[in-house]
Amino acid sequence: MSDTQLIKDKLDIADFISEYIQLKPAGINHKGCCPFHQEKTPSFMVNRERQSWHCFGCSKGGDIFSFLQEIEGMEFVEALKFLADRAGVQLEFRSSEVNSSQKNRIKEINKEATRFFYNFLLKMPASRNALKYLEERGLTQETIENWQIGFVPDQWELLTKYLLKKGYSIDDLVASGLTIKREGASNQNQSSYYDRFRGRIMFPIWDVHDTVVGFTGRVLVETEKSGGKYVNTPQTVVYDKSRVVFGLNKAKSEIKSKDLIVMVEGQMDVIACHQVGMTNVVATSGTAMTEQQVKLLKRYSNNMSIAFDADVAGQAAAKRGIDLAMSEGMDVKVIIIPDGKGKDPDECIKNNKQVWFDSVANAKGIMDWYFSKALEAKDLSDPKQKQNIADILLKEIILIPYAVEQDHWLRELGTKLNVDVSVLRENMAQIKNSQKKKDIQQNQKNEPMVNNKLYQNTRLDILLERFFMALLKFPDNINKENLVLDSVMLSFTNYGPLYELLNKLYNNNASIDVNQLRDSVDNNNKEIVDLLLMKGDLEFTNFTVEETKNEIKQLLDQINIEWLKKRRQDIQVNIIEAEKRNDQDALKVLLENFQKIK
Ligand code: UTP
Ligand code: MN
Repeated sequence: MSDTQLIKDKLDIADFISEYIQLKPAGINHKGCCPFHQEKTPSFMVNRERQSWHCFGCSKGGDIFSFLQEIEGMEFVEALKFLADRAGVQLEFRSSEVNSSQKNRIKEINKEATRFFYNFLLKMPASRNALKYLEERGLTQETIENWQIGFVPDQWELLTKYLLKKGYSIDDLVASGLTIKREGASNQNQSSYYDRFRGRIMFPIWDVHDTVVGFTGRVLVETEKSGGKYVNTPQTVVYDKSRVVFGLNKAKSEIKSKDLIVMVEGQMDVIACHQVGMTNVVATSGTAMTEQQVKLLKRYSNNMSIAFDADVAGQAAAKRGIDLAMSEGMDVKVIIIPDGKGKDPDECIKNNKQVWFDSVANAKGIMDWYFSKALEAKDLSDPKQKQNIADILLKEIILIPYAVEQDHWLRELGTKLNVDVSVLRENMAQIKNSQKKKDIQQNQKNEPMVNNKLYQNTRLDILLERFFMALLKFPDNINKENLVLDSVMLSFTNYGPLYELLNKLYNNNASIDVNQLRDSVDNNNKEIVDLLLMKGDLEFTNFTVEETKNEIKQLLDQINIEWLKKRRQDIQVNIIEAEKRNDQDALKVLLENFQKIK
């Protein structure tokens, strides 16, 4: 019998698909809502006998392999390996095929590395301090084993050498993110590679299917040279941090049975919660929750209680995730750890675990929480403050995708502010409109330079480009004196977001690191930055510091002149149009403006 048939016979397709969507028996079939297109009435069928699935809505269909490929974005050989392992089938005919997939090889490498870190922690004398540290943090032997926590000492190529000896290729090791290639080194020379993780407590990151897709390493001894507190696997062919939820593999069944997701911030928080028996707890890996993560979580429950750091940054990061979860129709609550009871769940549990359990049990509905925050210390007899409260809360109410629920909160707000609901509805419509406009503007701004029709290749555009080229090439010139461009002008160009960021970085740091700048912009703007850097290199290679300063000053002057000209031209065009319409009022304003600019 073929490998694939053997696997199909061992696995029940309906059970397998039930891990993703709810199926109900319907005659000889099972029926559910299709996971591959939006629908409210089920047209997705699974047939156990024929070992197949089909959707009558989007006409996709196939066997268990194609289902897995479709829903997880796997290649066939990846799905084959995955399902063979699941079914306990030794592949006879297709094992070389399985090994031909780099994704499969990297998963093997991750498994091997997990074992290496774990064994190192438990067996090597060099791990004494690491073990002591984990003990001090209250982790039990059982927890260490359960989460396969490990340690790697502060050496340059321990793991890389070990894995090379095991027969993995250097290219695969680099692709796994565990090994880093030294810049400028040649391929033949193995010592031109080094380990990404050094001197760190290692936590494997699993996907929902218990496959190790990456690692996060916590520094054991923090020094100037040790890098960030946590280092994570970078984006690889098997690790996409925006799709992985830490701990979900261990939490998913409890999430289903409790019908509640508890979302915390750090890996240590997740582990601490599980250790004291609260096992429906997960975390994102130090990032704001993404749409893919919300969609993944929704497979298991529609209810989420979120705990986040009380500081403003923590709240701002959490806010984006909360908004996302809300607009996906999730029921979101906020867990508040009482003042002085610990800065995060891990600390709270260490102090007094009952306080943490109570905080989770008493989580506040997100809208209640927004209401109490917005109304805190406000004077409701002051119309300005009333409007301010309405602005804040309407922005949240807009996000609720259910009409009845939305209506409920509008009325609640009306009662609190003593304002008619129809007024609030009108206000909400205004906000929606202005958001739409903003979105359109934002889209225009974010378009890459090549698509900028409005100002492309105008003299102003050329001057601006040269100005930013010079600033990025000589970041010492990014200072108060030079950050004086008109933001209205920039909003018509593609440099708006970049300019905003320069201002922000300058205000925060006083000096600007171009790499940091490049890392903080989105892809469209990265393209712009890269182009500017490249052109700047070509253009300004032989410039002295003095010459650059002069150049920037002159550019600023010319840009201002050009912008004045441009505004005058625009007004002239409008004047001609107003004259055609015989619109005296508009004419008057336009002429006044024209005089001002002169
Ligand atoms: P925290 O700084 O709150 O750390 O970052 P923590 O979870 O309390 O860790 P301990 O208790 O000091 O060990 C929260 C999360 O942000 C991510 C990690 O996922 C961390 O768990 N993070 C933090 C990073 O990715 N890199 C960092 O340098 C710091
Ligand atoms: Mn912590």
